[in-house]
Amino acid sequence: MADKAKVAIVYYSATGHSYLVAKAIEEGAKAAGAEVRLRKVHEIASPEMIASNPAWKAHVEAAKDVAEVTNADLEWADGYVFGGGARYGTLPAALKAFFEGAIALWGTGKLSNKPAAAFTGALNAHGGQETALHTIYNVMHHWGAVIVSPGFTDPSIYAAGGNPYGISYSASMEKTSVSEQTLTAARYLGGRIARYAAVLAANRDRLTAQPVGSMN
Ligand SMILES: Cc1cc2nc3c(=O)[nH]c(=O)nc-3n(C[C@H](O)[C@H](O)[C@H](O)COP(=O)(O)O)c2cc1C
Repeated sequence: MADKAKVAIVYYSATGHSYLVAKAIEEGAKAAGAEVRLRKVHEIASPEMIASNPAWKAHVEAAKDVAEVTNADLEWADGYVFGGGARYGTLPAALKAFFEGAIALWGTGKLSNKPAAAFTGALNAHGGQETALHTIYNVMHHWGAVIVSPGFTDPSIYAAGGNPYGISYSASMEKTSVSEQTLTAARYLGGRIARYAAVLAANRDRLTAQPVGSMN
């Protein structure tokens, strides 16, 4: 068994909700013994756009010390969790841009065989959370990742609204907060990924990971 599973939690958050969930996932992974890199993706919105929304501007300032993710973090990790607020029922463009920038690493086969899970949220209770999770998982299929959704493997998932596909929240317009039930489920998912990452990393030599070539 690997000493400590290495887990990368990679997120995009404009107004801070997804950041709260990412932090809870980090707590859960650390409590399960993992070494964690919590990383934000590079912002692609214009300064004017950010300045037009006080909550967005405030969160950019609050998260200024969170390191930006690089491809090296993906290579380093034994397992991943990706997330961000739903955008028209899909993943945020900044997260998609990061995924596209990983194409050369994809070609080496080094992204494969690692457990991956996703989280998201939306303003509306049925505003596209499940479809947004699936757009992240689409990418994970291309990587040959091992999708480790929460399923109904813990009571915290029912308590958070019963989303078996990933952790999801309903955002508040008034303040940046996420329900305690969602944060508890997020901590559970962090622990789950850490445990899968440890098991798979310890058995990596039994899994094939061939270079898959180049698409760029
Ligand atoms: C371009 C854009 C598209 C969005 N699309 C949806 C949507 O499809 N459904 C929904 O309920 N909320 C939608 N929202 C609201 C976001 O999902 C919500 O603000 C986000 O989850 C907050 O997370 P954050 O604080 O981490 O940025 C959208 C917001 C933006 C800016």
